[in-house]
Parts: sequence; C-alpha cells; structure tokens
Amino acid sequence: MEHEQNIGIGLTHDETSSIDHTGLDFASVRADFPILQQQVNGHPLVYLDNAATAQKPNCVIDAIQRHYECDNANIHRGVHALSVRSTERYEQARLKLQQFLGAERVEELIFVRSATEAINLVAQTYARNCLSTGDEVLITELEHHSNIVPWQLVCEQTGAKLRIAPINDAGEVIYDEFVNILSAKTKIASFSHVSNALGTINPVREMTTAAHEAGAVVMIDGAQAAPHIPIDVQEIGCDFYAITGHKMFGPTGIGVLYGRYDLLNALPPYQTGGDMILSVSFDKTVYNEVPYKFEAGTPNISGAIGLGMAADYLMKLGMDRVLAYENELLSYATSTLSNIPNIRIIGTAAHKAAVVSFIVEGVHAHDVGTILDNAGIAVRTGHHCAQPVMAHFGIEATARASMAAYNTMKEIDSLAEAIREVVEVFG
Ligand code: ALA
Repeated sequence: MEHEQNIGIGLTHDETSSIDHTGLDFASVRADFPILQQQVNGHPLVYLDNAATAQKPNCVIDAIQRHYECDNANIHRGVHALSVRSTERYEQARLKLQQFLGAERVEELIFVRSATEAINLVAQTYARNCLSTGDEVLITELEHHSNIVPWQLVCEQTGAKLRIAPINDAGEVIYDEFVNILSAKTKIASFSHVSNALGTINPVREMTTAAHEAGAVVMIDGAQAAPHIPIDVQEIGCDFYAITGHKMFGPTGIGVLYGRYDLLNALPPYQTGGDMILSVSFDKTVYNEVPYKFEAGTPNISGAIGLGMAADYLMKLGMDRVLAYENELLSYATSTLSNIPNIRIIGTAAHKAAVVSFIVEGVHAHDVGTILDNAGIAVRTGHHCAQPVMAHFGIEATARASMAAYNTMKEIDSLAEAIREVVEVFG
C-alpha cells in the first residue's frame, strides 16, 4: 500500500491574514504540532523547552506510523517488497539529510543514535588512532558535556592534552584566545555551533578556517543549530558535523554524523556486526563501504525515516525564514524579560539563537520552573549538561526558555507574567 506523503506546512498564502513579514504563516505551522493543542495545569501549554527536545509535526508522526503500518521490514537484506520499500525510504531519508546539511556526497551521512554518539564515534575512531602524547585537542568553555567527556576519555587513552578556549562574560568564545591556543600540536578542534545553555552562535566558519590553518581536523556539535539556523557543511568547511533528530522535530534515538568522505573512508569502524561488512570468514573480514561501515546492526529505520521527514519539513519552512522569525522571538523575549525586576539573563552574546537562560535573584531555578509549570509553561531548569558554563558565571543552575518556530509572542507574554509571579511570591 503506497501512501501520499502529506506535509502539512503552513507556508505563506497571500490571502492569509496571519502571515508575518518573515514570510511564514506561523499559526498554520503551530497547527501542524498536535501536542501543542493541550492544557497543562488548567492553562494552554506554553512549550519553551525546545533545546531539550522539540515537538513533532503530524508529517513526522505519520511517516513513522506509515512505516509500521505499511512498509516495516529489515533493510539492505531482503528481496521482498517490504524490505525493498523500507530500504528505499531509509536511503531517501539519507538524501534529505544530505540536502539539509549541504553535504557533497550522500555517503558522507551516517545514521547514529544521537549527536552524542556522533562525537563519540569521531573520538574513538579518528582521534584515538591519530592522537599521541604531546598532541592537543582544543574545545571551548561553552560546550555541552557531550562535547567534553568524549575528548577527556580519548586524551586519557592516548596521552594527548585537552585545551580549553575560554568564554567572556557575554558567553562568547574569546576568538583571539581560541586562535592563540591553536598550534601544530592541535590535532582536533571541536566546538558547538550553538550553545545549548546560553544560545550563543559561534563563528564556526572562522573557527574552522583558523583550526585548519593550524593543521587540525574540525568537529562541530550542531545539535542546537539544526532546527534554528541554515547549515551548509561545505560552506563552513568542517570535517565532521553532528546533529540529533529529536531537537529538529524528528524522533528520539536517531542522529546524523556528517564526515568528509576521504576521512570517513580512511577510518576504522566504530562498532562491528551485521550490515557493516562485505564478507566474513574466520580468517578475514572485509568491511563495507561508507556509510554502511559505520552502521552496524539493524539501524533505527523508522527513526531515520522520521528524521528525513523532519528535515524535509524544516527545508519547506525555509531555514532563513525560521531564523528570521526566531530572531524576532528572541528580541521580544530578551526585552520583555529584561524589564522584570530581579531577573538576570545569563548569556548576552551578540549572535544568539532563541534561547534565554536566566536566574531570578534569590530564587532557586527549580522553584522558578515549578511555578512556571503551574502556569502551564515548560522550561528547563538546572545546569543544562554544561557545568563549566555555569561555573564560569559562578552559578549552579539557570531557568532556560528555548524557543522554536511554533512559539508565539503571546507565549512570551505568558512567560513574563508567570516570572513576575515568581518574583512576587518570593518577595
Ligand atoms: N542537551 C539537552 C539540553 O540542552 C538535553 O537540554
């Protein structure tokens, strides 16, 4: 049974009154996300925890359901119709991701479990095989733990040294310091495109160029960039780029590692087993070609298909338009929250994605989160898996409102109203 792939995107119609000047009909975008149409604690849900995970549009939910209702079979293994169809859908998803990331070749896209797994893959294949005592890996103070710990481990395993480029009090990587640390010893530079804790957008192209001039290979953690800003890995010039599905309107448990073809081709496998081989005997095993060499075992087939649909959805929205709209949300949220007494915004970089991390002076972030939840507002509270960032600012935790293309100015007003209540309750 073949199904039409319906993508219910709220693209601009000239006759529609709710179009904003960024060219998207956001009321219609919102209608694509069924989970948003509910009440929480007696209030309309205001979902502002998109940096933790984003909600899923109908087209993604339908693609996963359709896979299990109509096409489910294992891939790359069967001659029967269902297996052929599942394989086609899985590989079509890879093509969508190639388009989404601007990769030159489709073989450069590897399906993994998450951005975390992508970074671990690079650390344990590329880095573990090239590092030795005296070498250095450069990261920044802005990183999520998933872009710190894999490098700490591989440095312990190889005797290499981990170097940290510091941030300033706006939450920006100090570019000159980053460049100063780079040297012939730097074999790998790994940094986020967008900070999950603060929203800072790093100048990844400049950082990549500087790292390449020092002779380093560049890995970028793009988990927080993918749903918010256009990405073109060829334009950035990086060697590896990691994204995760669930933050970009796709399912959990699926992500993508982009790697330059020549680099991937030269790497040993990360995990071994079925589908990553061409032939196996007890004398000799011949590995499959990329990307299959890195996809051992039955993969997350429905997850990849759902992620392909999510990438398609975002491309149809238009990442430039998403960015323009989210910039408006960010400006409004920043100015509205700044006017509330006792609020301190943590992270005031000149270039930011739509994330506002804040503390209410004298109130624990978890109490802020609980009062907001009573008003139906979901934010994340805590250290956001970025404890070095918290340490830089001398705090344990923040409350973080992180926005997506379906959020509205009215929701920012609800957030501000609930924060004012926090301030009143705690005097
Ligand atoms: N890394 C995710 C976050 O920032 C879970 O919340």
